[in-house]
Formats: sequence, structure tokens, C-alpha cells
Amino acid sequence: MRIECTLRLLPRAAKEVGVLHRSMLMAALIMAAVVMAAPARAADAARGRSLAQAHCAGCHVIAPHMRNEVADSPPFMVIARKYGFDASVIAHVIAGPHPKMNFSPRGADAADLAAYIAALPH
Ligand code: HEC
Repeated sequence: MRIECTLRLLPRAAKEVGVLHRSMLMAALIMAAVVMAAPARAADAARGRSLAQAHCAGCHVIAPHMRNEVADSPPFMVIARKYGFDASVIAHVIAGPHPKMNFSPRGADAADLAAYIAALPH
């Protein structure tokens, strides 16, 4: 009788352990997702400026005192104004397709470039 009872309870106990494990796994996954979604670092406008000098200045006017080199590249001041000096919007645009360029800065590079562009004089 007692054995029978234990045997009958066992599957349920096993199921509960399974549920517990699953919910712990879910919690771990959610925490990992939250950690990954949080910005790993603050955007660095000074680094963005040197990235811009190295990779963008060939086509774009990247600072107010510069002269335009390539006529169809909008100056960074124009880009900043167009996107309301909003660094997150600008980072999005930078990371998106950019047909006349053979690369799209992503992640920290896009964020730093956007921080630099958004900090240009209004
Ligand atoms: C080879 C020349 C070239 C280089 C290098 C270049 N761009 Fe551009 N970029 C252009 C041209 C031309 C346009 C306008 C046409 C277009 O959107 O493709 C443009 C457009 C953009 C736009 C979109 C502006 C808008 O109105 O939406 C952004 C943002 C931008 N560039 C950022 C950058 C950044 C940041 C870099 C450096 C990492 C860079 N570009 C390097 C030529 C260049």
C-alpha cells in the first residue's frame, strides 16, 4: 500500500521538479536577455569623432569648420538636424543600409558615431 502510494506520487514529484527546472531555466534566459539588452557601455562621442575622421570624413563634412568634399554626401550637421539630434535614431540610421558605402558601422561604433553627431552644435 505504501509502496503503491509512493509510486503513484513519484511521477508527480518528477513533474514538479521538471517544472521547477524549466522555470529556473526561463528565469536564467530572461536574465540573460535583460543583460544583453542593457547597453554594455555609455556611448563615447570622442571615440565617435575619431571613427568619423577615419571612416567618414572622406565623403562627409563631419565638423562645422570643414568644407564639403563630395557633393552628394550630407554634412553630419545636416544629418544631426534631420534626425533631431537624437543619438539613438542616428545610430539606427548609421547601422542601416548605406548604399554608397561599402560598410555599415554597428554596435558600439554606430553608437559612438551617433553620440558624436548628436553632440554637434545645434
Ligand atoms: C564613400 C563615401 C561615403 C563615406 C565614406 C561615408 N558616407 Fe555616409 N553617405 C554618403 C552618401 C553619398 C550619402 C547620401 C546618399 C545615401 O544615403 O547613400 C550618405 C548618407 C549617410 C547617412 C544618411 C543621411 C540621411 O539623410 O539619412 C548617414 C547617417 C551617413 N551617411 C553616415 C555616415 C557615417 C557615420 C560614415 C562613416 C562611418 C559615412 N557615412 C561614411 C557617402 C559616404
